[in-house]
Amino acid sequence: MRIPFLMPPTPSVRALRMQDAAAIADLHAEGFHASWSAQDCESMLLDKAVVGQGIGRGAGLEGFVLSRMAADEAEILTIAVARRRRGAGLGKRLLQAHLGRLAGLGIRRLFLEVDEGNAPARALYGRLGFDEVGRRNGYYRKPDGSAATALVLKRELD
Ligand SMILES: CC(C)(COP(=O)(O)OP(=O)(O)OC[C@H]1O[C@@H](n2cnc3c(N)ncnc32)[C@H](O)[C@@H]1OP(=O)(O)O)[C@@H](O)C(=O)NCCC(=O)NCCS
Repeated sequence: MRIPFLMPPTPSVRALRMQDAAAIADLHAEGFHASWSAQDCESMLLDKAVVGQGIGRGAGLEGFVLSRMAADEAEILTIAVARRRRGAGLGKRLLQAHLGRLAGLGIRRLFLEVDEGNAPARALYGRLGFDEVGRRNGYYRKPDGSAATALVLKRELD
């Protein structure tokens, strides 16, 4: 008997759901020093001003992005991809889809803050057309007590 070879489905972008809260907290913990609890994530998912999207196969989550809207502007609160899946284009696909979703909701300008030393994130934002519009010296406090500069980036949406 031949056993069919099942290809894993290609990851797709979808809206975040309440059931994703624990997976979001886990992905956040892989990407950042400051932790978010599953309850923190649930609160954000309940917030009508927050737009969240994830990328993954089936119900699984391999990355997520959350933005908060205010009038026709929005700020990316966070974006993270599972450590074992980084560098495979998931972050770019997710963020591209997110830009389209926000534009569809009437958002014209998108902002975010990124650690000056975060090369992968800066590469991602640079590829997707974000420009530096400000610097906040000493904005981040690292676990060793040292401070890091935040760059403020902006992207106009069509
Ligand atoms: C930032 C992050 C979301 C990027 O996700 P990713 O899926 O690894 O990114 P992609 O594979 O889609 O890569 C996007 C672009 O950045 C570049 N890039 C990715 N990782 C890189 C690295 N380590 N160094 C240099 N460039 C890198 C890629 O070359 C790609 O550009 P290209 O397609 O033109 O070649 C991911 O590294 C992450 O979760 N980091 C921890 C959390 C974090 O720092 N979030 C950002 C907070 S502001």
